[in-house]
Amino acid sequence: MTTNYLVIGSGIAGLTFSVKIAEKFPDRTVTIITKSNEEESNTKYAQGGVAVVLNSEKDSFKKHIQDTLNAGDGLCDPTIVEMVVKEGPKRLEELITWGANFDFDTSGNLDLGKEGGHSENRVVHHKDITGFEIERALLTKAHQLENIRILPHHFAIDLITNHHLTEVKPKIDACYGAYVLDQKTETILTIKAQHTVLASGGIGWVYGHTTNPVIATGDGIAMAYRAKAKIADMEFVQFHPTAMYNALGNQSSFLISEAVRGFGAYLRNKAGERFMPKYSEKAELASRDIVSQSIDSELKKTGDTHVFLDCTHLDITAFKKHFPNIYNKCKSHNISIETDWIPVVPAAHYLCGGIHVDKNGKTSIPHLFACGECARTGLHGANRLASNSLLEALVYAHNIFKYLSEDRSQTLNLNIPVWNDAGTMTPKEHILIQHNLQQLQALMRNYVGIVRSNDRLTKAIKHLDLIYNEVEDFYKTSKLSTPLCELRNMINVAHLIINQSLSRKENKGGYFNVDNVVN
Ligand code: FAD
Ligand code: SIN
Repeated sequence: MTTNYLVIGSGIAGLTFSVKIAEKFPDRTVTIITKSNEEESNTKYAQGGVAVVLNSEKDSFKKHIQDTLNAGDGLCDPTIVEMVVKEGPKRLEELITWGANFDFDTSGNLDLGKEGGHSENRVVHHKDITGFEIERALLTKAHQLENIRILPHHFAIDLITNHHLTEVKPKIDACYGAYVLDQKTETILTIKAQHTVLASGGIGWVYGHTTNPVIATGDGIAMAYRAKAKIADMEFVQFHPTAMYNALGNQSSFLISEAVRGFGAYLRNKAGERFMPKYSEKAELASRDIVSQSIDSELKKTGDTHVFLDCTHLDITAFKKHFPNIYNKCKSHNISIETDWIPVVPAAHYLCGGIHVDKNGKTSIPHLFACGECARTGLHGANRLASNSLLEALVYAHNIFKYLSEDRSQTLNLNIPVWNDAGTMTPKEHILIQHNLQQLQALMRNYVGIVRSNDRLTKAIKHLDLIYNEVEDFYKTSKLSTPLCELRNMINVAHLIINQSLSRKENKGGYFNVDNVVN
């Protein structure tokens, strides 16, 4: 299969790029592959909204820039922050013209919510299901464009680079597309592309206890890493302070949006104490790294498994209007927010690092681009400001589009070999994959969590090596399956997180290592 643009992922980043490039060049083909149903993505579950400066009386670009820099704890790239923040209003307007609906206030202006780390209300939202609405609008738009072909249940296994070529190899390594597993027919396709855009999302599932859906296995980052692309800032895994506590722990956890704290909810420990003012003058509205680390510290002191979010003092009618999904989810767990506190605990939520890209979304490999959560742009530094992720995805999808609109590079007519699975067999024991996955997730939770130490990280490397060797043996002899490829990718991602953690000698934002604390 040959296409002009191969897009890996159908969340906000992949769809936004695809819609823009397909509209501008109706004679060029855009192929989107996505490993689950076309709407399944982190995007679909986004709650709070998109951070954009709209109220020029109270807010300003300068304030949003400063809030982003503060959250990033000195590690953001200031020129990137300025570019993303200033592009925000234009990108939001475009999304609205494509049919995405956002809530309005009583004066007829877009309703602006507040979240941790923001000095002003600036989060545009669709109730508490903003991502669901954005995904709906983008998919509707993509389906209207004839030159976009979406292939659901197609899993990208590896990027095609010089390494795979058996005949003539161009002097400079580049990306020529991807090998893709058609999950329904169980065949491996070779998709040749002039340009490949990784928009494959996050890594939450590496921890098991996460706000992310099960598709978030870091595939794009692992593929780029194996192709020798530059990967950076992997130590900055963001833990969201308020995932709904469930006693089982090891599964996707429902998120209680930070916007609920923006709306006035308090965090309390089991004794009923509102503990956040002890840790930060911004209390519940401190940035996420601070709130998660404070909860972690409370839990360690008390030995409890969770803390609580108290909404009982809030205007419940207004709450139900803004947060109907959260209200109903709590109800379904027999929690009446009018009278009950919601049990919450931090969970892996977002990766600030990823595939290193420049301002045009270019990776270190020619013809390979990345945008959205899998990309490391320099916007987030050591900790992402709430609701800056959807914004970043929109802006970088646009920047790649702009760059490629002016691209004059020629298509290389290369002979790409088909995937070689000689000598592999259907494995007898699929359960091994499940066992190794559980071990990996436990390892990441126990040794590579919110608070790290050199000792734990070093132990983690040793344990990971054992899992790695076992899985590599299995991979070399087995017919490929999605769970096996995902596990292999998560091992790569875990390796990057642990090693880049060990390299960081100073605590910053979301990274805290007890051995870095200077007495
Ligand atoms: P995703 O939306 O995750 O899409 C990735 C796509 O890649 C999926 O279609 C997936 O199937 C596909 N894919 C992955 N691997 C492969 C493969 N090997 N082969 C084929 N396809 C593959 N951010 C905000 O700014 N505001 C919010 O309010 C907000 N709320 C959030 C709430 C929750 C519960 C979560 C989980 C995240 C939230 N975030 C929020 C973060 C934000 O939603 C994500 O960072 C953003 O949606 C990522 O978009 P994306 O397009 O990069 O990736
Ligand atoms: C939330 O609604 O709390 C999530 C916002 C985000 O991740 O940016």
